[in-house]
Amino acid sequence: MNHYFTNNKNLKSDINKISVIVLGKSYSLFTDNGVFSKKALDFGTRLLIESLPLPEMSGKVLDVGCGYGPIGLFVKSETDCEVDMVDINLRALHLAKIGARHNHLSVNIYESDAYSNVKPSYDYIITNPPIRAGKEKVYEILMGASDFLTSKGQLWFVMRKNQGVKSTLVDMGKCYNVSIKKKDKGFYVVCATKKEKIVDND
Ligand SMILES: C[S@@+](CC[C@H](N)C(=O)[O-])C[C@H]1O[C@@H](n2cnc3c(N)ncnc32)[C@H](O)[C@@H]1O
Repeated sequence: MNHYFTNNKNLKSDINKISVIVLGKSYSLFTDNGVFSKKALDFGTRLLIESLPLPEMSGKVLDVGCGYGPIGLFVKSETDCEVDMVDINLRALHLAKIGARHNHLSVNIYESDAYSNVKPSYDYIITNPPIRAGKEKVYEILMGASDFLTSKGQLWFVMRKNQGVKSTLVDMGKCYNVSIKKKDKGFYVVCATKKEKIVDND
């Protein structure tokens, strides 16, 4: 079965330019068969981007599961952050690179299965995680972020109520302080920061 995260070379390519308006800003993105939300910007992705603290963002940002690039490219266009974008889907990475070039944005886009090719540390990790890849992979991305964030770094993600967001938040509460930043149409935007480690010198 083909999923939006499988690399299927036999899938016919049909690249399309889509115009996206977020927070009143317009940018063009490039989509194709075999990538997530190829027709239009996903509702959850839009909600996540619109919830980000863009004016106060600085430092290094990682967009995990960047797809054709809506999150990382928008962050790069609105901030001075250094932006890295990773995905496992080669076609999505190709599209994200076309989008970056088209919008004259300098970002680093490369292949990585979750954090396999990523080096710490980031001030922000942002993701609309690949629910269809299964809970184990989603948890690898969400829980694993902790090893790739600076001590005060923030993990931002979006998840739907019917995708198990409530139990995910309970599980994440073991290693993160979690805060729900926005809820709309069953989508939750969450910001998580690492809990301080308690050092016991006794
Ligand atoms: C829900 S889509 C979000 C795409 C894009 N960020 C957006 O918001 O439109 C999840 C993305 O994660 C990618 N993905 C799936 N498994 C992955 C993995 N193991 N490592 C990295 N990315 C993965 C998929 O290829 C897909 O592009």
